[in-house]
Amino acid sequence: MGRIIVIHSYKGGTGKTLLSVNLAAAYAKEGKRVCLLDLDFRAPSLQSIFRLGGSKYWLNDYLNGSCEIGKVLVDYTPECECNGNMYVGLANPATEALRDMSAKDRKWEMRALGRLLSLKNTVLNDMELDYLIYDTSPGLQYSSINAIVSADVVLVVSTIDRSDVEGTTRMVHELYDLFEKKTAILMNKVPCEFLSTQLERDSVIKRFESTHTLPVLKVIPCYCDVLRAGGSKIFVRDEPEHAFAKHVNDIALKIDSF
Ligand SMILES: Nc1ncnc2c1ncn2[C@@H]1O[C@H](COP(=O)(O)OP(=O)(O)OP(=O)(O)O)[C@@H](O)[C@H]1O
Ligand SMILES: [Mg+2]
Repeated sequence: MGRIIVIHSYKGGTGKTLLSVNLAAAYAKEGKRVCLLDLDFRAPSLQSIFRLGGSKYWLNDYLNGSCEIGKVLVDYTPECECNGNMYVGLANPATEALRDMSAKDRKWEMRALGRLLSLKNTVLNDMELDYLIYDTSPGLQYSSINAIVSADVVLVVSTIDRSDVEGTTRMVHELYDLFEKKTAILMNKVPCEFLSTQLERDSVIKRFESTHTLPVLKVIPCYCDVLRAGGSKIFVRDEPEHAFAKHVNDIALKIDSF
């Protein structure tokens, strides 16, 4: 039985997209069947990474009920240099589409939740996927809450920024606790000097686990190389020996036993 993994955060720019893409690539590389969906309708990003010319349909169309999911998904397997399979579903980045999505009412969002929940049968089961991974918008956007409702595992990405840590803690109590999902924190972009010894790494984990009252699955340093790549690289594929890629491989393993 496949699992739905949602990557979420309180604040923007914490690394959700980068981590979603690399996590999907890590599983595909391992031989798994993976589908990655861009549920960040506020600022779609996956189209810039995957540069897929393949589909005329977007996830927006699927949620609107104007096409089936099969029309949206593009097979990225040939480009991902993996032993498994990778499918990608994009959100529409056109200005008109961003406006349209931000103006949806509650009734539409409820129907969209139904469409999202039905992906469990159509995509996860029929396509025999091992993982369905959702990249989301930060904060309490409806599309992100819908994604969390449909998830098996929620990974919350936080930086050490005080407003991020406090906001994440509030979300733990006011959002994640309600849904009783398997939830864990990824601390990302942590300054390297906080992590130079195992003792320091353990103390960072301890500090944030006691603040969030959730397990910290991984503490990932801030790498200048990653920033420099400007979102143009899939590290797991393009630079598998990079420490960032190794952290992602480790996250993939930990999720399996989580
Ligand atoms: N560990 C890291 N070290 C250095 N740079 C990182 C790291 N993780 C992410 N970044 C960089 O931070 C920037 C923001 O990352 P990303 O776009 O993945 O965040 P996001 O949470 O998806 O943002 P948004 O909320 O706007 O969707 C990117 O330039 C990315 O390459
Ligand atoms: Mg993003």
